[in-house]
Amino acid sequence: MWINLFGYCYKGIRNVIKIVIFTARKIVLKPKDLEGIVKSGHILLKLSKPAWPVIRHLSNSNNVNNQVDIYNLTFKNPLTFSAYESNIDLLSFFFELGIGGGCYKTMMTHPRMGNPRPRLQEVMINNQPSLINALGLPGKGAEVTIKTILASSLLAYQRPIGLSIGGDNSDDYRRTFMIYETHIKTNTFPFYYEINISCPNTESGQCLADNPEELANVLRELRSKTKRVISVKLSPDQTNEDLLNLADIISQFDMMMINAGNTTYRLCSEIGLSSKAISKGGGGLSGPSLFPRTLEIIRLLNNIKCPVMATGGIHSEASVNACLEAGASLVGMATALVMNPFIIPKILK
Ligand SMILES: Cc1cc2nc3c(=O)[nH]c(=O)nc-3n(C[C@H](O)[C@H](O)[C@H](O)COP(=O)(O)O)c2cc1C
Repeated sequence: MWINLFGYCYKGIRNVIKIVIFTARKIVLKPKDLEGIVKSGHILLKLSKPAWPVIRHLSNSNNVNNQVDIYNLTFKNPLTFSAYESNIDLLSFFFELGIGGGCYKTMMTHPRMGNPRPRLQEVMINNQPSLINALGLPGKGAEVTIKTILASSLLAYQRPIGLSIGGDNSDDYRRTFMIYETHIKTNTFPFYYEINISCPNTESGQCLADNPEELANVLRELRSKTKRVISVKLSPDQTNEDLLNLADIISQFDMMMINAGNTTYRLCSEIGLSSKAISKGGGGLSGPSLFPRTLEIIRLLNNIKCPVMATGGIHSEASVNACLEAGASLVGMATALVMNPFIIPKILK
């Protein structure tokens, strides 16, 4: 009962903020832009921190123990937050609500502004709330990010945290990895790496997927430098043949995991939005409409020798169970958490 109540309140407050901000933007002739709403949500969450122990107690999901071991990593349960967020308060809140682990937002070597706004919008696909984003990996860069994580409350939860690495070429990936590795080499916290080769919103965010030989070179080098689990995040836009080929290459190395997958690229016009809704005219679509393809990929990768995480459209207990039954070891969520973080205790129950 409490979980549903919290969920309704969360969605209600979010809608009120949305109406106020969108109306204000309309008055000053500015286009809709969901990013402002997400940011105001972060501020509200911070203000609500004193109430977290009560919320955690009433959600009563931290005692759900459905542990998943991936090599030397122990996820408290199969639910994880996918790489999409870097706000420490929000990620801590996901842990408070019982999530099993998760991956910090993708970083590149240097700080980046990302693409011009607007670059995040809500859109209904088959009557289901979904998101389209062309953020373009904005972030503070690897050095500031790892220092922030190491100094943060996230470590107190002792649940695996992925460090997602993006790049426009293989040297970018190597450099960012080395920055992270220098800081965590001797650290015993359960960090793992995630190599994002499926970003549709940067110039060359899929360069390693397009060049499997170079992917193998990068993985070989990273593998020689770390004993931590390395996950590789694939795109649902790749053909089944390409996915199988990449999965074969990835699974040749030790302690690898495959994350299937990322957003799917769509033009605004294909999903009923004006071409100006996203500054680049299109971006990565996420949410429930991805789910059939996610399930198809999990089934496709069933015989691959390494663990697979299912990401894309997970939004209910049924979608989690379907992926686990199809052979996934973990599931990743982004859009469902943006819409309502209380989905975590709801699914865990
Ligand atoms: C706002 C937003 C930002 C995202 N940023 C990243 C990112 O930095 N790195 C990444 O690998 N995936 C990123 N993603 C993709 C998600 O991690 C996830 O793979 C995708 O949204 C599909 O899952 P979903 O349907 O549960 O949202 C982002 C998604 C959204 C909606």
